[in-house]
Amino acid sequence: MLLKSYLAAVVLTFGLASGAHAAAVTINGPHASLDCTTCHANGQFKAPAKETCFQCHQSYQTVAERTAKMNPNPHSNHRGEKDCNACHSMHGKSHFECNDCHNFAIRMKGE
Ligand code: HEC
Ligand code: HEC
Ligand code: HEC
Ligand code: HEC
Repeated sequence: MLLKSYLAAVVLTFGLASGAHAAAVTINGPHASLDCTTCHANGQFKAPAKETCFQCHQSYQTVAERTAKMNPNPHSNHRGEKDCNACHSMHGKSHFECNDCHNFAIRMKGE
């Protein structure tokens, strides 16, 4: 009896937790169809480190090549190799952190 209600509580808690996430969260752009666990291993629902993005985007050098025509290159500069989330949001609005100090005519998608 005790075990049964414990199990029911566990099922209810997990059910509510995943349901709430699914309803509240949208993933931006081409990542929309990815499993949450691709970026949030072990139930860590916070900004993943850049190594998580490197599973598919390889390295800072790789993304810097893609933006080589931008001046300054947002992926190669004096700020070093920050976590991608410093600029790219996956659920909210992206923010070009360079313009906290500079005034470059560069905007993130959707900014
Ligand atoms: C499971 C693979 C995968 C992971 C992990 C992943 N991406 Fe992507 N990402 C893609 C694919 C596929 C595309 C579309 C093709 C392309 O542009 O390379 C893409 C495109 C992008 C784009 C360009 C399109 C846009 O929305 O502006 C950005 C920026 C991006 N990813 C950032 C990130 C960041 C930041 C992370 C880590 C939080 C990340 N990605 C993790 C697969 C992934
Ligand atoms: C200092 C801010 C900043 C950081 C940090 C940053 N990016 Fe970007 N990224 C940009 C800007 C600006 C663009 C061009 C505008 C846009 O796509 O929103 C861009 C574009 C991209 C694109 C699309 C390039 C294309 O082909 O159009 C990808 C992919 C990408 N970033 C991945 C990453 C990944 C992965 C990381 C972390 C390793 C990262 N970015 C870190 C600012 C940043
Ligand atoms: C491509 C990588 C990626 C995927 C896939 C992803 N997330 Fe996230 N998640 C992030 C990043 C990056 C942040 C940091 C905040 C942001 O970027 O908006 C974050 C933050 C969060 C947060 C913390 C609240 C917040 O906004 O800071 C929750 C909760 C969350 N994600 C839930 C989910 C759920 C649920 C899914 C699956 C439906 C999911 N995420 C899929 C990258 C991802
Ligand atoms: C915390 C403040 C701060 C942030 C954030 C910042 N910078 Fe800077 N940046 C500086 C300072 C200070 C200098 C040196 C003074 C100068 O020459 O303007 C500088 C110099 C530069 C220069 C050489 C001088 C010039 O204006 O041509 C470039 C290029 C540059 N930053 C690009 C970036 C990029 C790209 C980013 C984002 C990835 C960034 N900065 C983020 C403070 C910042």
